[in-house]
Amino acid sequence: MDLLKKIKENAIRLQNHIVLPEGSELRTLKATEQILKEKIARITLLGNPAVIEAIALKEGISITGARIVDPATDSSRNKYAELMVQLRQNKGVTIEKALDLLNDPLYFGVMMIKAGDVDGEVAGAINATGDVLRPAFQYVKTLPGVSVVSGLFFMIFKDKNIGDNGMLVFADCAVMPDPDAFQLAEIAVTTAASAKAIANIEPRVAMLSFSTKGSAQHELVDKVAQATKIAAEKNPDLLIDGEMQLDAALVPEVGQLKSPGSKVAGRANVLVFPGLESGNIGYKLVQRLAGAEAIGPVLQGMAAPINDLSRGCSVSDIVNMVAITANQAGEKI
Ligand code: ACO
Repeated sequence: MDLLKKIKENAIRLQNHIVLPEGSELRTLKATEQILKEKIARITLLGNPAVIEAIALKEGISITGARIVDPATDSSRNKYAELMVQLRQNKGVTIEKALDLLNDPLYFGVMMIKAGDVDGEVAGAINATGDVLRPAFQYVKTLPGVSVVSGLFFMIFKDKNIGDNGMLVFADCAVMPDPDAFQLAEIAVTTAASAKAIANIEPRVAMLSFSTKGSAQHELVDKVAQATKIAAEKNPDLLIDGEMQLDAALVPEVGQLKSPGSKVAGRANVLVFPGLESGNIGYKLVQRLAGAEAIGPVLQGMAAPINDLSRGCSVSDIVNMVAITANQAGEKI
């Protein structure tokens, strides 16, 4: 079954509650209509109810069933502000500052998650990545044992011979500009876990570089080799190898030639890029020139699921991202 179909079916079963802070944005409203119609998730929209309802009415969009919460007047403001002070008093957050920050729906949405009032958030249709991520980093923070949040893409190809039945997982393509070896190792391990949890594949992780097994000498090559070693030592069961070039990772003959005996070379299904420049450019090259569908970025390593949209996103991108976020939120007892 195709990945998105499976993700949507699981979301329908889970019925998690997702907050959309950009509540008066047109694509977000159209996505809300579709999400509610298909029963993919419960939805809270943030914004002024009169404004949101007027836009929906004018555009003929039904958002019946969505909860609308106004960050400027909601009765939870004081509760959230107290929680913010508790969490970041040491960073100078006072009640006054917190109440001011809560006027920003991106902070309000994150505090709804932190207080357990919703299960996840999707934003970024009209806000830059950094503005979506910063409140999440500050208040939701990372999972225990994880220090970096990163972003993966499921790259879906028409040619089912590529990767795992036509799918490759790419990371980090969205968050960490220049990870060190420890952070890169963590990104590799987290990505393998996400690939398994969300797409149900057995990860074979290639740590990409411009060198394969010492064919070039440079500190950037050393970083990838060290990251591979750290990840492998901490996770002896993980199939991971590197450093290796992209052709060695994907093409069996090249993999065997450049890295003989490797269980990953030539048959990798998870590609970990050495930094955000190559990761972000790499996924866009494959998307634009090879015509692959890019599903993501799916943010991983955060203590609760928060996902960022591209500002060029379509209505179906938002629907899909809500379904993915609902999956990440998992079972609620
Ligand atoms: N994981 C977890 N926490 C992080 C991370 C991370 N990757 N990066 C920063 N933080 C935390 C810091 O520890 C800090 O926490 P603290 O305030 O409790 O001490 C807080 O976030 C702020 O840290 P700064 O270093 O001040 O981070 P800054 O806000 O300057 O930058 C940001 C973080 C916005 C994510 C930055 O790394 C960034 O802009 N990354 C690139 C994002 C991007 O533009 N991606 C490409 C577009 S996406 C696409 O094309 C699909």
